[in-house]
Amino acid sequence: MPSMAPLSGGSKDGTGPGGGAGLPFGGRFGPPDGGSSGGDAAGKRKAASALPEARGNKRQAILDQRRALPISSVEGELVNLVKKNDTLVVIGETGSGKTTQLPQFLHAAGFCKGGMMVGITQPRRVAAITVATRVAEEMGVEVGKEVGYSIRFEDCTSASTQLKYMTDGMLLREALLDPLLSRYSLIVIDEAHERTIHTDVLFGLLKGVQKRRQAASTASTSSKQKAPKTGDSLKDLQSLLATSNTPAVKKISPLKLVVMSATLDTKGFCEYFNGAEAVYVQGRQFPVEIFYTFTPEADYLDAALLTTFQIHLEETPGDILLFLTGQEEIESMERLLKERASHLSQNVQKLLVVPIYAALPSEQQMRVFQAAPEGTRKVILATNIAETSLTIPGIRYVIDPGLVKARAFNPRTGVESLEVVPVSKAQAQQRSGRAGREKPGKCFRLYTEDLFTKLVATTVPEIQRCNLANVMLQLKAFGIDDVLGFDFMDKPSRISIVKSLEHLYSLGALTDEGKLSDPIGVRMSRFPLEPMYAKAMLISCDMGCSEEMLATVSMMSVDSVFYAPRDKLQEANNARKRFISVDGDHITFINVLRHYIQEAEEAGAEAGEGEGTSSNSSANENKKAFKRIRSWCSANFINARSLRRAVDIQKQIRGYVEGMGLKITSCGEDMLSFRRCLAASFFLNAARRQLDGTYRALSSGQSVAIHPSSVLFGKKPDCVVFNELVRTNRSYIRNITQVDSLWLPELAPHYYAAQGVGTPSQQQS
Ligand code: CDP
Ligand code: MG
Repeated sequence: MPSMAPLSGGSKDGTGPGGGAGLPFGGRFGPPDGGSSGGDAAGKRKAASALPEARGNKRQAILDQRRALPISSVEGELVNLVKKNDTLVVIGETGSGKTTQLPQFLHAAGFCKGGMMVGITQPRRVAAITVATRVAEEMGVEVGKEVGYSIRFEDCTSASTQLKYMTDGMLLREALLDPLLSRYSLIVIDEAHERTIHTDVLFGLLKGVQKRRQAASTASTSSKQKAPKTGDSLKDLQSLLATSNTPAVKKISPLKLVVMSATLDTKGFCEYFNGAEAVYVQGRQFPVEIFYTFTPEADYLDAALLTTFQIHLEETPGDILLFLTGQEEIESMERLLKERASHLSQNVQKLLVVPIYAALPSEQQMRVFQAAPEGTRKVILATNIAETSLTIPGIRYVIDPGLVKARAFNPRTGVESLEVVPVSKAQAQQRSGRAGREKPGKCFRLYTEDLFTKLVATTVPEIQRCNLANVMLQLKAFGIDDVLGFDFMDKPSRISIVKSLEHLYSLGALTDEGKLSDPIGVRMSRFPLEPMYAKAMLISCDMGCSEEMLATVSMMSVDSVFYAPRDKLQEANNARKRFISVDGDHITFINVLRHYIQEAEEAGAEAGEGEGTSSNSSANENKKAFKRIRSWCSANFINARSLRRAVDIQKQIRGYVEGMGLKITSCGEDMLSFRRCLAASFFLNAARRQLDGTYRALSSGQSVAIHPSSVLFGKKPDCVVFNELVRTNRSYIRNITQVDSLWLPELAPHYYAAQGVGTPSQQQS
């Protein structure tokens, strides 16, 4: 039986909700919300100053904030519990200080002695960066030194790092290189309630590592080598340990685990971790008044826009948090809000719009934590990153359209898609809770109360609704061949495991015996990319167009390259024309990236020419270059943030390719070769036009349509390969290039010889 001891660190506060406002909502109170919790006055952060005195004040302010957090009064108890237990489950409402404080407590308690680290996993990049930056600030160190973070395509750690925040996916990659995670004394799995696919895989792996570290520590004391146990799903790792049980690892200490969750529902965690103890850190919570719409909203974006301005014009001071589904939606809302806000009358307070989503550059991510200037209301446009991962101070109003973008997988067809789906009740409650951390707040749900009651209670773990190819490739790379027998907390269905293995087999990553193939599978597992992209990189090296594939994969890894404001559609379309390739989106993206890099180089050179001797003038020149690139981007309606990130990703993947001893070569203007390479790489995502003009995905038989954002929209090519399937009211394919249907059986004979590509007329019959 798992036990659950409440630790009291704060007090319940506040009285009942206040009266309804003049908004177009039901004005009824929703069900009592368990989401919001304790806090501090973090919102009033002072601007950094070079004056030591001001810095001293700032440190004092941070210290005061830390002390005010509910978790700080139970530091000693928590540390003792961690020391006493192999695995501890910590529950605490969002904002109670779990992520930023507990690792510091562990640091102070000596868990980082002797060169050991405490690792803290986060499901999202943004959280890893912002939290590490905050903790570094609290500890008075530079981020990247004692406190660092590691995310895909960005490692901000050093030899002196002791507290390491990282995405759960990055810890998985580290475990590939160091199966015992020997530099970590303790791993905190944060945001466990989110149950991301990587978190779930980590659960199983870390349980295994714990067992082996335990075995290794007793083996080293008895100085006798234990024979690897058989029948264990991780037995290969175990034998790996046996063979590597040399003096180098003989003094390894057991690995401790802390599983942290923002929701109470932790029975599953405790049972899974062999009856682990759970503690509850109490938070402070203010009441949040819930409003629903009377009738369903036809256009939730429009409703969100209206609601934002209604709050702004009618409600008392306090920032607004609006949940949206993704970068594109956030960016268009940002433009709309700014545009409308510019028409506000002079005597109304200003509105400051701040976006936050994963792909946003880190400097800009930090802006959400800065308090708005006096007399200004901040409205934060966020993905569900702000649901529990980030605690943003100052929020009193939450607008929740009730939607989230989620991965969905059809195990029958093997097709994964991104879908906008309704949130779960638990998510809706977490979202509304964000309004009541510092004061009583209000949450405006842009749906009816009746709909709320029909929402599912909690979200299905990602592992049960996504393409498992990547996970299976990683498990195979760990030497775990019996993937069906892996110790999952919630097992994915057998059919989705089998489908993903078939997928890997079609890509050549697995042998006939189901083992990782060498070198293809081994190399694929090294890339921080989806298996299909990893394979594409390998194929392109053979086909002499790796430079082009590198650009493609980088551009596919960022969201929304182009944007088109509603009022400037024609202008945006005209600008886009200069990049368009009649062959499709991939080459169009390559053109964009090439032009961007050229522009950046020219801007750099121009800045270099005018460079003076003082650092001041070179900073000015840099600024000038930066400005030139920005204006080039806006003139071409190109997302500067996305392009910067793409260049960064390109650099990293280049490193991986070269690290494998492979060559990056360009096919120059020979785009025919490149399209053949695209067909060879993405043959699993091919579609053919039918007689009636619709398309049929060849691997699944599903009927699909070309997405309006594609340059091939309205062009009706006979055969295409695509990279993304988006499902709204129908299924759309995106990021498309036209190929010759005869290339498919030629370049992927193992797949198409059996299935046959056929001609459209044959398929009709
Ligand atoms: O993890 P949990 O939700 O329990 O809380 P946390 O993320 O550790 O946040 C604790 C406090 O730190 C909150 O009051 C935040 O407002 C503050 N914080 C901040 O001011 N700036 C950040 N970048 C992160 C946290
Ligand atoms: Mg947290």
